Amino acid sequence: MDLTDFIRGMPKSENHVHLEGTLEAEMKFALAKRNGMDLPFADVAAMKASYVYHDLPSFLAIYYDGMKVLQKEPDFYDLTYAYLAKAASQNVIYTEMFFDPQEHLKRGVAMADVIGGITRARHDAEQALGIRSQLILCFVRDLSAESAMEALDAALPFKADLVGVGLDSDEAGNPPEKFREHFAKARAHGLKVTAHCDVDQIDTLQNLRTVLTDLSLDRIDHGGNIVQSPELVAIAKERGIYFTVCPTFSGTLRRTEEVPVDIVRAMLDAGLNVTISSDDPAYMGSEYMDDVLIRAVERSALTREDLITIARNGFESAWLPEADKAAMVARLDAYVNAA
Ligand code: HPA
Ligand code: ZN
Repeated sequence: MDLTDFIRGMPKSENHVHLEGTLEAEMKFALAKRNGMDLPFADVAAMKASYVYHDLPSFLAIYYDGMKVLQKEPDFYDLTYAYLAKAASQNVIYTEMFFDPQEHLKRGVAMADVIGGITRARHDAEQALGIRSQLILCFVRDLSAESAMEALDAALPFKADLVGVGLDSDEAGNPPEKFREHFAKARAHGLKVTAHCDVDQIDTLQNLRTVLTDLSLDRIDHGGNIVQSPELVAIAKERGIYFTVCPTFSGTLRRTEEVPVDIVRAMLDAGLNVTISSDDPAYMGSEYMDDVLIRAVERSALTREDLITIARNGFESAWLPEADKAAMVARLDAYVNAA
């Protein structure tokens, strides 16, 4: 079996995907129509042609503008169900999805509608398609700490529908310690904590150190610059930290020569626990899990063994009971042995 077929058939977990980043242009038009909104694009092709960015802020501007069509509970349902159906069609059997509620609260959408629509879709997709999923509330780090706390407080009545909190958006001037109290409160409510450490950000190594040591988070999203610091690599290995790496995006953001061109290869070679995800596929050429992995085979010189390690890491890093993770790893092992 060639590696492309091997990837397509492999049971997978995706642990770094922003639901609003799966909002395809076609659905944007459909939701805008349903909500009586006008979009400043003639058609899908023109909208997609506008998805041009060269760094994190220029990406985020497009991403936040696009999500304004999400207004009502059924919009969040449709968005989530469409992603889960796509993921399930690529043998993603488990996924942990981010969402950015502050952006929706700003527009007057109720937290109950955001989490309610997503949760209803999660349950329906699990019933109909067999894909299991969980939800991670992301703090939008360039908004105020107060705004993030308001979002957390508004979400806590729905904490049974959440597995953790995360930190995304523009890292410049918004270090992880800005959210120290939020993380502590989330943990006190039984939630896990992760944070984006996007590639090549200002103070990137300092922020990695903070999340690894001071805040002692449970996972790191992206985090590729760690290979610049043998000391931080050693700490991450000692702590058994998993990294959710999104090669499509980190390739876009890389702007210094200090990080090797191929972050996935460098992290694997450093002995780090790497998982691979699609991040914001609707804005990244509609490349979902299989597309990202297939591209990574070439870009990162991945072997069959690397792919199996990455898939196993995806399950082992999941925020699930040990027995459930073991059952998913067993499915992977059975596939590998039969392939
Ligand atoms: N990094 C930071 N913020 C984001 C991302 C990301 O990968 N995707 C959506 N918001
Ligand atoms: Zn991300």
